[in-house]
Amino acid sequence: MTAMPLNLPEQTLRQRSSMKWRMYDADVLPLWVAEMDVAMHPAVRAAIDEALDASDTGYPAGNEYQEAFAAMAAARWDWHPDPATEIARVGDVMNAMLSMLQGLTEEGDHVVINPPIYPPFRQIVTGYKRHLTEVPLVDDRLDLDGLRAAFAGPDKPTAYLLCSPHNPTGTVHTREELAAVGELCAEFGVHLLADEIHNVLVDPGTEFVPLLSVPACSHAMVATSAGKGWNLAGFKGGLIIRGTDAADKLAALPPLARQSGGQFAKIAHTAAMRHAQGWVDDLMAEVSANKDLLQRLLAEQLPAVVYRRAPGTYLAWLDCSALGLENPSLHFRTKGKVALNNGSDFGPEYGQFVRMNLAAAPELITEAVTRMASSLER
Ligand SMILES: Cc1ncc(COP(=O)(O)O)c(C=O)c1O
Repeated sequence: MTAMPLNLPEQTLRQRSSMKWRMYDADVLPLWVAEMDVAMHPAVRAAIDEALDASDTGYPAGNEYQEAFAAMAAARWDWHPDPATEIARVGDVMNAMLSMLQGLTEEGDHVVINPPIYPPFRQIVTGYKRHLTEVPLVDDRLDLDGLRAAFAGPDKPTAYLLCSPHNPTGTVHTREELAAVGELCAEFGVHLLADEIHNVLVDPGTEFVPLLSVPACSHAMVATSAGKGWNLAGFKGGLIIRGTDAADKLAALPPLARQSGGQFAKIAHTAAMRHAQGWVDDLMAEVSANKDLLQRLLAEQLPAVVYRRAPGTYLAWLDCSALGLENPSLHFRTKGKVALNNGSDFGPEYGQFVRMNLAAAPELITEAVTRMASSLER
């Protein structure tokens, strides 16, 4: 009998004060920001309770988080990073990506991203005096020819920010694609910096390939955490992992990068990775069924919406161009009372897309599509 992580009543979820459930009025069904409608795993809860009972609220120490990640990497992916020398505890994933940019690139440098992309990728480049070089995904996959052209082109980018699996499309990059990316970055002297926060969030039977397990990427750096996989964003924390040939890049991080992690993040993320591996797989079985459900519902009620189902993440990236709406996310929120992410946040040219969060009970997804369809009839 498998656990059913996505089974909380809406009434319970509405008591939450976090962004997903508080940003919009109570008549809006929120399927937007990447929070999951799950209860905290009992092992995580127990670890936090124990720390609270002991007033263990100081600074984090030790390598437990790094070791828990290394144990997971070995068990899930037969990948063996050394927790003592290759993994560092940091504040959170986007600050980790930013600190790598700060340590390895200069103001004025160009940095490559692949739109549509999780909005902070853009923000950590332009907000910190670097420039964007954009190589959009093509049919939701990495454009290797486009990357080569960008690396060889006049911008002379010094870093490439890879999102693996890719938010918002859910693309899971193949071993061959990652190897090609590693070779390209080595050829052009571009720092390869990957965000693998969605690493455990793949459909059952799909292989996630950690970038640093690919020999051609031994020069790369990765940021990750248990924040997405176990819905622990409220416990801000993360890890930076270096490739076996990137000791100098870990050493180049700004000094505070390694001092910004909190005690409760360390405790919660460690417990999740140590004790809740099966839970995340049960969760992804439910998410995968939700992807099937969404496909069926759209075919029946909103056939003009294009959904290319992908095996990574619990996010669905929906092309609403054929509906002829000026602003699909605004329309669905105001007329349908369903909150979805606006595609333009992932790249200005994606305003006709919306992102739907499928880490929700099937009843909520069914209700959302019904509301979206009837909003168009009015
Ligand atoms: C690709 C990606 N990176 C990073 C984050 C946020 O991680 P953190 O809160 O650790 O910065 C998210 C959250 O949705 C994400 O999707």
